[in-house]
Amino acid sequence: YRRLRIALLGAGSVGSQVARLLLEHADELADRSGAALELAGIAVRDLDAPRDVELPRELLTTDAETLIVGSDIVIELMGGIEPAREYLLQALNSGADVVTGNKALLATHGAEIFDAADQVGASVSYEAAVAGAIPIIRPLRDSLAGDRVDRIVGIVNGTTNYILDRMDVEGAEMADILADAQRLGYAEADPTGDVEGHDAAQKAAILASLAFHTTVPLEAVHREGITGVTKQMMDAARHAGYVIKMVAVCERLTGRGEASDEAISVRVYPALIRREHPLASVHGVNNAVFVQAEAAGNLMFYGAGAGGVQTASAVLGDVVSAARRHIAGGAGVGESTRANLPTVDIGQVVTRY
Ligand code: NDP
Ligand code: HSE
Repeated sequence: YRRLRIALLGAGSVGSQVARLLLEHADELADRSGAALELAGIAVRDLDAPRDVELPRELLTTDAETLIVGSDIVIELMGGIEPAREYLLQALNSGADVVTGNKALLATHGAEIFDAADQVGASVSYEAAVAGAIPIIRPLRDSLAGDRVDRIVGIVNGTTNYILDRMDVEGAEMADILADAQRLGYAEADPTGDVEGHDAAQKAAILASLAFHTTVPLEAVHREGITGVTKQMMDAARHAGYVIKMVAVCERLTGRGEASDEAISVRVYPALIRREHPLASVHGVNNAVFVQAEAAGNLMFYGAGAGGVQTASAVLGDVVSAARRHIAGGAGVGESTRANLPTVDIGQVVTRY
């Protein structure tokens, strides 16, 4: 097989599992992608930090910039905006294909990253950026590209679903459960991003941009986190036949835009869900995304929404695709043509779920 040089940036919850699987399944991955995926190095902050997985010491480096030079595929699993942005632009400008799980970066600097990729014909793949292991980016970008998506309703943050579920089932305290979510590798490096709804808002912006072929700025997403949800509220909801779940809703609105008769609303908030509704059965760290499309009707995507090894599956799927494209000499996938739909904030709308 032709050798492809892979640079991995980050060896935390997700990156360490990606490294392990790249090394352990090297032969299978080569057969599937048609290229030997050679892990050239792993950039970290601290060479001596404790890791979930024991990794060959000689692969670790603190010099990401040098590692990227000459790489065919760069996998970014560091998180945050800088220096992740700078490294991805360096990788793309050198012609490398990029795989990332960084929704914070894509929701704020997506246009810059996608433009850089388009200019050199490289690809940016980000299946891991929304809903962990669940395939949802490619279904929206590719499989549903010929349909018209009207609405997406989902649970897209694993940490908050894990917290709300345990508050509901065990009556446990939010702070104790959050500590468990951090220990299990579900939460963001700064867990405020999860509980205040920033992470879900970033994912909702990405999903809505793909689904409606537009650009949804993060500021246009209505966001309410779960920090105000108390045990008393959970109890009251339970007695009334409901459960509280943090949902993300992305939908087309007719007659609400200023410049056109069509607009979209993207919002994230804790909602009362009837116990019989399928979303009420999404327990623990799982996520679920319902998509309503004109021709396809209702589709449902379900599975682990966070977790190192589960998310590594999504990352490796992107790596195999990027490798196939790379050896075929293919151009980047690019993003679908941008419409320019206005996004209106209609707040927390009481909807029957
Ligand atoms: P972690 O915080 O566990 O790991 C981050 C890794 O990046 C660490 O190895 C850290 O090094 C390294 N790193 C951070 N900053 C730098 C830097 N400046 N230079 C070099 N290395 C650096 O993150 P996760 O693995 O949880 O998440 C990674 C990405 O994947 C994030 O974008 C996250 O949003 C996304 N994601 C995470 C999921 C999850 O379940 N955890 C699921 C889906 C997406 P060191 O180890 O030395 O500190
Ligand atoms: N912190 C995120 C979550 C990781 O809990 O959903 C997966 O994107």
